[in-house]
Amino acid sequence: MDPFFKKLGDSVYAQWKKQNFDLTLFPETARKALERSNPSHHVDLSELIHEFLISDEQPFQTSSGFGQPELIAYDNPKFYIQLLFWLDGTTDIHQHEFSGAFHVMKGSSIHSHYDFVNARSVTPHFCLGDLKLKNVQILEAGSTVPITSGKSCIHSLFHLETPSVTVVIRTHTDPGTGPQFTYLPHHVALDPVHQDPLTMRRKQLLDVLERTGSPDYGDLVAEMIRELDFERGFFILQNCIGHLGNLGEWDRIWHLFEKRHGSLATPLAPTLREIIRRDALTAMRSTIEDVEHRFFLALLLNIEGRDEILQMIGKKYRGASLFTVNRWASELIQVTDSGSWLLDASFPEELGFEPEDQQQIFLEALSYFLSGEKMPPKFQGLSKAEAFRIVDVLDKSSWKALRPPLPSGKSKTRLSRS
Ligand SMILES: [Fe+2]
Repeated sequence: MDPFFKKLGDSVYAQWKKQNFDLTLFPETARKALERSNPSHHVDLSELIHEFLISDEQPFQTSSGFGQPELIAYDNPKFYIQLLFWLDGTTDIHQHEFSGAFHVMKGSSIHSHYDFVNARSVTPHFCLGDLKLKNVQILEAGSTVPITSGKSCIHSLFHLETPSVTVVIRTHTDPGTGPQFTYLPHHVALDPVHQDPLTMRRKQLLDVLERTGSPDYGDLVAEMIRELDFERGFFILQNCIGHLGNLGEWDRIWHLFEKRHGSLATPLAPTLREIIRRDALTAMRSTIEDVEHRFFLALLLNIEGRDEILQMIGKKYRGASLFTVNRWASELIQVTDSGSWLLDASFPEELGFEPEDQQQIFLEALSYFLSGEKMPPKFQGLSKAEAFRIVDVLDKSSWKALRPPLPSGKSKTRLSRS
């Protein structure tokens, strides 16, 4: 066991014992202990890794899949200390069934807090409601944040550097504070621990049909959606939305779900669209290592307001934020077999441009889109309809969050095309 964490754990135990193990006091006790000991300054990570790999005298380790990986640095019947390594991990938006505090030991993170209001249970494991972002902060190495169990602390972390390491001092479980809901923006909360093996196997079987190009795929999903209850129907839609979209079957299947469940289905349409958007950005994270680009992805994943995004960029990097965004776009644009991509926006292939021309036109169009300035007539020799097609692609992607507000009385089309 690493002596630093042995000393830290023993001091937390002694203090909490004085407090008669009062659960409500534990987050502050853990926070103060982490701030006082400041692992980000006093732990030599390479030494810790060496000690963990060579010495057998380690605390009890779990088989938890949380962290990449999780190491237990101190264990006690009342609480334990875990070190969480993060390579490309983005945590889901979640709450906890435990309390304590976490400390950024290496790297930095974007930390977002949420409220879930107007909650109504469909089943004990599945709720509908409205997820509201409360605040976003940048946590630099050395930052410490208390954790409270239950729905008063709903949060997510996006780790900027690779690897990032957090230290968590936490209870095992706090009775009566479960389930440990995961939230899907902006309207669903579900219990990730609750397993329905039949649904899991059905999803896996549908994946087989997808990969083997089954001609019956759409009809089989349609039949399932007509039969299934709301919760299981949602999981099938979540699993199949991408392939159904590729097959041109999504609208038909969605209408069947709406017909079956009426107004209960309404909050699920934007939630499913957001799942697609977030999955695409999260997948990019695993291929993008530049810290500035990861920071930008984190903002697009977590913040919806243009002013808030630009403010966060201004706090972190010098210079005009819009200029920075345009520079990042020029660094992030990709030409692939499926065309030119600016994050999750794809250049309209039907306009018939060569890849090298697509890049320049796409970046210039983005610059107008972000600034809100009028495009000149005959922009890049394009007709109004063609120019609008590019703007429309950006407006249906994650870049939409950065579009300036429209002047009152003006339509999106007018602004973009005039
Ligand atoms: Fe957490």
